[in-house]
Amino acid sequence: MSDFFTMHPGETAAPVPPGPALCAGTAAMRRVHRVFLWAYDEAPGLVRSAQPGDTERASYVGEVLGTFDRLLHVHHESEDALMYPKLSQRAPACALHAEQMIEQHRQVAERLVAIEPLRLQWMTAADSLAGEDLAQRYADLSALLKVHLRREVTEVMPAVEKVMTEEELASMAKHSQDEFSVKVMLAYLGLVLATNPPGEREELFKDIPAPIRLAYRLLGRRLYRKQYSTLFPGREVPATL
Ligand SMILES: [Fe+2]
Repeated sequence: MSDFFTMHPGETAAPVPPGPALCAGTAAMRRVHRVFLWAYDEAPGLVRSAQPGDTERASYVGEVLGTFDRLLHVHHESEDALMYPKLSQRAPACALHAEQMIEQHRQVAERLVAIEPLRLQWMTAADSLAGEDLAQRYADLSALLKVHLRREVTEVMPAVEKVMTEEELASMAKHSQDEFSVKVMLAYLGLVLATNPPGEREELFKDIPAPIRLAYRLLGRRLYRKQYSTLFPGREVPATL
């Protein structure tokens, strides 16, 4: 099976500045993007899994999807603030690619803004009309993300690796993490691990601060298993660490 993160015919990567790589940004970005690709692939089916009138299920599913919407938005905000300006300044030949990615972020944000009130309405009413509209909007967002999250990895990350340090990359990740409670981060860490292949999971886990790793082992893994089996009754819970 070919790797999802592959350039398609006609696509061109930003010119990669000479010199050594200062960070392992491509691999790190791939690992984060996998969980978003998975979540939005599942989102339409999750919305449709609530029967009309089943507000208990709709509010549970809606809450989880709302957290993903925020995680995605904050991920893009961090890149807009802490990655693209550095790329454009330090590698001006990449400025056009940076602008294209920021424009794709804007398109994602526009969809998230339209989704938000619809999601909240559906959570309280679980009506089939709002549910179908919401499912279709998530499917549309998923299609956009399959392009954006792939192209950011293939077209800009090789250049980012030459101009941003590991510390700068880590501070961008921290900026995102600071927006969420530890409990949310712990439950979602399980999903991040589960959506990455063995080998990559261990690499990802190594980058997590030791106290969070311990808290994950004590609490996060359980939260993840409970959340997964509530979202997908009857499905086997995918392995994590
Ligand atoms: Fe990204």
